[in-house]
Amino acid sequence: MANYAQLAQKYHTPLFVYNFDAITQSYTTLKECFEGYKSLICYALKANSNLSLIRHLANLGSGADCVSFHEVRRALLSGIPKYKIIFSGVGKTLHEIESALKADILFLNVESESELFLVEAVAKDLGVEARISLRVNPNVDAKTHPYISTGLSSNKFGINHEEAFKLYLHAHKSPNLLPVGIHFHIGSQILDSAPLIESALKIKELARGLLALGLPLKFFDIGGGYGITYTDEVPFNLQEYIKNIINIVKPLDLSILTEPGRFLVGNAGILLTSVLYEKLNGTKRFVIVDAAMNDLIRPSIYKAKHEIVALNPKSKEVSKCDVVGAICESGDYLAKDVNLPDCESGDLLIVKSAGAYGYSMSSNYNSRLRPAEVALTNGKDTLIRHRESFEELIEDELLLLDENTDKVDDIKGSKDV
Ligand code: LLP
Repeated sequence: MANYAQLAQKYHTPLFVYNFDAITQSYTTLKECFEGYKSLICYALKANSNLSLIRHLANLGSGADCVSFHEVRRALLSGIPKYKIIFSGVGKTLHEIESALKADILFLNVESESELFLVEAVAKDLGVEARISLRVNPNVDAKTHPYISTGLSSNKFGINHEEAFKLYLHAHKSPNLLPVGIHFHIGSQILDSAPLIESALKIKELARGLLALGLPLKFFDIGGGYGITYTDEVPFNLQEYIKNIINIVKPLDLSILTEPGRFLVGNAGILLTSVLYEKLNGTKRFVIVDAAMNDLIRPSIYKAKHEIVALNPKSKEVSKCDVVGAICESGDYLAKDVNLPDCESGDLLIVKSAGAYGYSMSSNYNSRLRPAEVALTNGKDTLIRHRESFEELIEDELLLLDENTDKVDDIKGSKDV
């Protein structure tokens, strides 16, 4: 195990620590599932978009699944070649579409009729043929948390089969659209592969019909969503699942593209935090730490459970407590009713499985500064994002001038605060 005490001393807490060797391991495990079949792994940047982490995946051969043009820019900056970058999302702006087409990325995953028409118009203006794929909503229940379930008609994502078929025919006829892919993504943290297989079978039928009509499809994009173990979850067998997918897709002779986020980075990261205080409210025990919901919001919004362990427990005896942060909300907790030994101020706790949707969902709520991020490669630690400073926190704000305040800098540069 990494020397977290040393890391805490060197970089202070709260601190995200990512084991890049573990990322290599999960990337390789997934890539090996596809051995002997054409595939492209496009890492979903939304899980963790730190540039060094993306670069690490780029070096392994990964592509990128992006949900904003700024994510596309992050991918390009980190060295992912444009021909391995795809752009998904229900709300791409005109500017984002224009930029993506100019950047000449692999394809855009289009999510509605109006978006398709906009892509077509922009491509026409630019005099290019836009490579597109349609995100088809298979109306299958991924059986995951409702906030991260995306494959039902009641969700905002994708296009239903009938409409997708029509739109594919339109794209096929258009001189400015090139339909190269077909896509589904039904949710995240999926622990049962049956809904994924059911979706793949439905999409396959659609793809088969389109290929028969001469559409130039090349990619069968199965999305991401592979669940991981946080506490006691049992993920489905990935090898078996991919084997099934290959069997489904092979007859179509399409490349398989997948967009995992959490699977690649979730269990490779931890959030290191220091105990500030312990208190009892009546009989209820609270351990108050220096990380909070602004650093890791998953417990607060999804009731997600992250295992928390004491780095150097002073005794073997444990008792139930809530691990909470300093934010002025009762929903600010990292864990509820977990067993921890007695803690003292300065003790270190490790919040596990914090590599995905941790930093990338963090905020400055309560004017808290965002933590630093450290990469571990072969046991060596490297700072990959410094801790935010107060100056950075306020740097984008413009102070409304009044007659008593003639210069913004007078206040921002003040040494008194
Ligand atoms: N592709 C698309 C189109 C997606 O919307 C997502 C995730 C992914 C791929 C990657 O999914 P993954 O392999 O990471 O499950 N904030 C939530 C998760 C939201 C996922 C959103 N979309 C959480 O903390 O659990």
